[in-house]
Amino acid sequence: MKKIKMGMVGLGRLGIQHAENIAFRVPQAELTAVCALEEDKINEVQENWGVPYGYTEYDEMIQNEELDAVFLCSPSSLHCDQIEKALDAGLHVLSEKPLGTTVEECKVAEKAVEKHPDLVFMLAFMRRYDPSYVYAKKMIDEGKVGKPFLYRGYSQDPESAIDGTLEYLAHSGGEFIDMAVHDIDAARWLLDSEPKQAWAIGGCYAYPQFAEYDDGDNVSALMKFENDAMGFLFAGRTAPHGYNVETEIIGTEGILRIGSVPQKNLVEILDQDGVRKECSQDFLERFDQAYVDELQEFVDCIIEDRKPDITVYDGTKNTKIAYDLTGSFQENKLIDIE
Ligand SMILES: NC(=O)c1ccc[n+]([C@@H]2O[C@H](COP(=O)([O-])OP(=O)(O)OC[C@H]3O[C@@H](n4cnc5c(N)ncnc54)[C@H](O)[C@@H]3O)[C@@H](O)[C@H]2O)c1
Repeated sequence: MKKIKMGMVGLGRLGIQHAENIAFRVPQAELTAVCALEEDKINEVQENWGVPYGYTEYDEMIQNEELDAVFLCSPSSLHCDQIEKALDAGLHVLSEKPLGTTVEECKVAEKAVEKHPDLVFMLAFMRRYDPSYVYAKKMIDEGKVGKPFLYRGYSQDPESAIDGTLEYLAHSGGEFIDMAVHDIDAARWLLDSEPKQAWAIGGCYAYPQFAEYDDGDNVSALMKFENDAMGFLFAGRTAPHGYNVETEIIGTEGILRIGSVPQKNLVEILDQDGVRKECSQDFLERFDQAYVDELQEFVDCIIEDRKPDITVYDGTKNTKIAYDLTGSFQENKLIDIE
């Protein structure tokens, strides 16, 4: 079996997990190279997992002729430039969300993808590969909830992770582009429509540091879609109980809820504190299987010479909507999304 030789870019909070998934959890993939700014992490991964190549310079890594593909998990503002360079070097690309932090960056990626129709380009909006979301999407497509007319999504990081979030603020692109973009993508995907009007609000309820970036620690938006469906999203960084990703779709004949009580597993604890369930503590725990399944889909697309459902244009739309919502939040006004 020919293995797809991959280079992992970024070994931070999420990149190290993707590297492990390439190395051990998708049999048709091989972790051939890693690239990051931290030499100690590169050395550790190379030594522990027997990875032949390590780089601190991305431009050097993509010249490695053994590579078939790269997985980008670098800071969001670098994605589009790295996508263009990798495709020009003849490499298939799987990139973390968001595609870019501005629409201009996204257009660069669009052009590069169009220039290389023979290469696979995929965006890692992992909810599209999470087994529960996949199941819900199938039910919607089969008409099991009738006509879906409302999307409600909550995406909250635990407050226990706030130090990392604050460190990451400068290159996150802001709350809408970094966090709410998951709900923007999921709403477009599950409602099968594009938002046309929105009003975003929010604030710095616990951490004034977000205001330095004209951002909020908790934000929300109400959207009206082209098919008249309603969308409500809430993104926050101060959940007291853990990592809370909750989605609801209301249709004319049924309601679907995913993770409405976020839970670590099926264990119920009955003790001196009452009756309770534990909550996943971060995205790694909640979306563990989705990260493997999205990687499997990317590798299968290369092997089977086909393209994934999610396109570079979805990436641009998600960034554009998130960017427009940021403007609505900052200017406190109802906006039209073109
Ligand atoms: N899908 C999800 O659930 C999810 C969750 C978290 C993060 N993300 C996305 O993943 C990306 C990375 O986030 P993170 O939290 O892991 O970030 P991080 O800051 O923890 O790690 C960034 C990594 O990129 C490396 N890097 C920085 N500049 C580089 C360069 N020029 N060349 C090569 N490597 C470079 C750093 O050395 C580091 O290893 C972001 O785009 C973020 O939006 C997605």
